[in-house]
Amino acid sequence: MSNSIVVVYRSRTGFSQRYAEWIAEELKCDLKENISLTVNDLLNYQTIIYVGGLYAFGINGINLIRRNFAALQEKNLIVCAVGATLSTDDSLVKMWESNFTKEQRKKIKRFYLRGGFDYSKLGLGNKILTSMMRIKLKNVQDPTEEEQALLNAYTESSDFTDKTYIQPVIDYVQALTA
Ligand SMILES: Cc1cc2nc3c(=O)[nH]c(=O)nc-3n(C[C@H](O)[C@H](O)[C@H](O)COP(=O)(O)O)c2cc1C
Repeated sequence: MSNSIVVVYRSRTGFSQRYAEWIAEELKCDLKENISLTVNDLLNYQTIIYVGGLYAFGINGINLIRRNFAALQEKNLIVCAVGATLSTDDSLVKMWESNFTKEQRKKIKRFYLRGGFDYSKLGLGNKILTSMMRIKLKNVQDPTEEEQALLNAYTESSDFTDKTYIQPVIDYVQALTA
């Protein structure tokens, strides 16, 4: 049974990788990094758990699931988005809507896991993007709680990962495969 579960991750600075490793360890299942994977690497599994970092609302590497959605119709699909902020319910709704169609959202069980922010591991492109976001946020008059949280998150390195956050994912998958 455990062979039919796979955790797939794409991580730039290590936070999604850590969650993916914790989940795979707990479920004693396969773990794959989403680098040059194709849908053929997923077809042998009945349950696919995708874990990816959030970059400007987009889940890193999620095209692997999105583009192959039709071929994965019969699978149990779970997606964990890993972000730096303690997102509000409203912003999470927007985030899921910007990543998946209504039909996809119905089929995919979705979780948000809080990651962190590690400026030192970002590539040049992301460092520039981060600086631009910081400047934009600093110029916001009367920032909302969410905007203030974003600004704080992009100013200092932080690590909010916590193994206990994976428990709802584990419970969900174990109930599926019980
Ligand atoms: C350019 C950029 C954009 C980001 N956009 C978001 C975002 O929209 N929402 C969020 O919660 N975190 C955002 N983050 C923070 C990352 O999602 C966070 O650092 C996450 O833990 C990265 O996971 P990874 O190391 O597995 O890639 C952003 C970070 C960068 C550098």
